[in-house]
Amino acid sequence: MIEIKNITKIYKTGEEELWALKNVSFKIENGEFVAIMGPSGSGKSTMMHIIGALDIPTSGTYLLDGKDVSTLSEDELADIRKDKIGFVFQSFNLLPRTTVIKNVMLPLVYEGMDKGVRQQRAEASLKAAGFDQSHFYHLSNQLSGGQIQRVAIARALVNNPTLILADEPTGNLDTKTGEIVLGTFQKLNEEQKRTIILITHEHDVAQHAKRIIHIKDGQIISDEKNHHQIKI
Ligand SMILES: Nc1ncnc2c1ncn2[C@@H]1O[C@H](COP(=O)(O)OP(=O)(O)O)[C@@H](O)[C@H]1O
Ligand SMILES: [Mg+2]
Repeated sequence: MIEIKNITKIYKTGEEELWALKNVSFKIENGEFVAIMGPSGSGKSTMMHIIGALDIPTSGTYLLDGKDVSTLSEDELADIRKDKIGFVFQSFNLLPRTTVIKNVMLPLVYEGMDKGVRQQRAEASLKAAGFDQSHFYHLSNQLSGGQIQRVAIARALVNNPTLILADEPTGNLDTKTGEIVLGTFQKLNEEQKRTIILITHEHDVAQHAKRIIHIKDGQIISDEKNHHQIKI
């Protein structure tokens, strides 16, 4: 489903050129759970932005379900993001003084769906993200860090994407809460066959995935099945 071929990303600031990705290639099949791991500045977020159709590479090709994303217009990129990809970021901004359920329904507002259907979809996503049902109508400013991250996952799921991209999703969480969130990704991968790409600088976090792509200075240094997967 994801085919990255000889991708290079160069950021130009004035005269300076920064090579964030250098001739990177890999494939990710539907239903995989992959961690992209590397130290700060290694090019992980750049990679995620390209995979997530938030940015295009300087050179190389990116095929998503056979379609060449590297050549698309802004509008076409926006459609791909909306239809195929759910994003989970490290710090997630919920609308304050707004209920959990409304926060999750937000991406559906523009879909022209009626309210009952939107509500059902949001409730199903919250359940899939393991969010406690008794808190669906709580205000978002009353939630803990772990609960906020589950709402973030629920919001990423509400468009029913096949691919979930998570950039340091446990970065702001304590170990125990982080494990719960990682367990949620495992469940979504195993029970719903969603493709998960987890970006992290932490070895312990990457160990929850089934495959680990290790990147350093914009290049892949290893890409292996994880024989030591931690199962939650
Ligand atoms: N928009 C940008 N403009 C210029 N340089 C950038 C930009 N985004 C990232 N970089 C640089 O590209 C390199 C890779 O960054 P990034 O992909 O954010 O790495 P990571 O997520 O692994 O920390 C870093 O040296 C970073 O400073
Ligand atoms: Mg980053």
